Amino acid sequence: MCIFLYNYFLCNLCRKDLEDIVELDRDFENFDVEHNRNQFCWDYQDYIFLLTKRKSLLTLMKNRQKIIGFCLSVIVGFESELYKIIIQKEYRNKGLGKILLLFHLGSLKIMGVGFSFLEVSHINFPAICLYKKIGYKVEYVRKKYYINSDALVMKREL
Ligand SMILES: CC(C)(COP(=O)(O)OP(=O)(O)OC[C@H]1O[C@@H](n2cnc3c(N)ncnc32)[C@H](O)[C@@H]1OP(=O)(O)O)[C@@H](O)C(=O)NCCC(=O)NCCS
Repeated sequence: MCIFLYNYFLCNLCRKDLEDIVELDRDFENFDVEHNRNQFCWDYQDYIFLLTKRKSLLTLMKNRQKIIGFCLSVIVGFESELYKIIIQKEYRNKGLGKILLLFHLGSLKIMGVGFSFLEVSHINFPAICLYKKIGYKVEYVRKKYYINSDALVMKREL
């Protein structure tokens, strides 16, 4: 394995990268539908919209030229919200999600951001494990936020 991490802005994001991202998103959401029917994957236009209209940070993890994971935060003033983090299935449980997220949060800090917030279904055990391992704490619970689960709102100081 030969892993690289990059922070991307729309100007250096090629169409192929974005297509890989959308495909990863679709795979995750297909899997997730069984567990959480209230989440939908984003398409190409959704990503373009977000990256052009909102101040955001997109971090890609590549194994050579192939995208194997990414995360995306939107920045509002001193705070950010983690909208997406996905590692391709066959690369999970190897410590890569942790490396990706720590790199991403470190970059946000360099950009002057102070806090990261996120929302996760209370039955998404792998994601909650990852977030807790790197220091996110549950702020509050949104009961029945998703069709079959609650949402945990978590926060971490950068
Ligand atoms: C959540 C996700 C990004 C984690 O990525 P990952 O690369 O598998 O995570 P890591 O291997 O870096 O694991 C980080 C920590 O969480 C723990 N963990 C991860 N998955 C776990 C699982 N299924 N069971 C138990 N612990 C788990 C690991 O043990 C590790 O702890 P450690 O550092 O003490 O060993 C990945 O599972 C994924 O892409 N899920 C689908 C998308 C998703 O649910 N995104 C979050 C939406 S809010």
